[in-house]
Amino acid sequence: MPSQTPAAVIKAQREDWNRVAAGWDKWDQFFNRTMAFINHRLVADARIRPGLHVLDLGSGTGYPALLAGEVVGAEGTVVGIDLAESMLAVATRKATTLGLPQVSFRTGDVTSLPFESGSMDSIVSRFCLMFLPEIPKAVAEIARVLKPGGYIAAAVWSAPEKNPFIRIPMEVIKTITPLPPPDPEAPGIFRLARPGDLSGMFERAGLITLDDEEFTAEVTYATAEDFFRGLMDIAAPIQNLFAKLTPPQQREAEQGILKAVNDYRRPEGVSLPIAVRIVSARKPR
Ligand SMILES: C[S@@+](CC[C@H](N)C(=O)[O-])C[C@H]1O[C@@H](n2cnc3c(N)ncnc32)[C@H](O)[C@@H]1O
Repeated sequence: MPSQTPAAVIKAQREDWNRVAAGWDKWDQFFNRTMAFINHRLVADARIRPGLHVLDLGSGTGYPALLAGEVVGAEGTVVGIDLAESMLAVATRKATTLGLPQVSFRTGDVTSLPFESGSMDSIVSRFCLMFLPEIPKAVAEIARVLKPGGYIAAAVWSAPEKNPFIRIPMEVIKTITPLPPPDPEAPGIFRLARPGDLSGMFERAGLITLDDEEFTAEVTYATAEDFFRGLMDIAAPIQNLFAKLTPPQQREAEQGILKAVNDYRRPEGVSLPIAVRIVSARKPR
């Protein structure tokens, strides 16, 4: 089967993430607390400080743009770009609630950035770049819009075996219905999982890699059922796999996932390891 055209991937991404925007809004407080450290890491790696002009690629409901906005303060600006207007509507509301007029959001494709060359001090991106059909094109755009000496810091998912919150649902579904073997070059959750994948693209675009590190942590849910509900509410790629199952198969998959996730039960709840690849680079002066 021919792989999808870039335009088809972009269209599907936009529909997918618009569909789950209400779920992201519902789980916002939980993920805000449990994943905040990734935002702090990106803000630090992109050397964000008061007064800078910052771009966030694939902001979704505002991460890490809103933290960057607190750091740049009233003298700086942060603009977040995303395909999905419903995700950005949540982000915009949060910026208003938090009193951050320096943070704005606009719809657009990361592969073709609507900004002047050399206009951004720092660029950040959390869990977006692996979904792009043409990542090197987006990386060329990053290199273009950064000022000389500017920084990019991005978080992408590391290997599936180290991320049971995604590996388990995929494995359980595979026992129920055949899934096509993953194409390591196709856009998807693990497209940039390997060391050197993203940093290599940065270097080929003329940037200087500063770091390409696997960053591990745990996310703790009250119960396995809570995990499952959260997953189905926000994880568009897993929702897509579930949609291919019949209702009885969906119930079977749910039971299988709950059972496997319960292996991670600890006194404080169900504590699932995560492994995130954090890559940072700098544009030469
Ligand atoms: C997993 S969400 C991450 C959102 C946010 N950065 C976070 O970490 O919570 C991925 C986001 O990337 C956006 N996205 C995917 N492809 C994109 C593209 N080509 N241009 C802009 N945004 C894109 C999606 O619309 C979605 O909001």
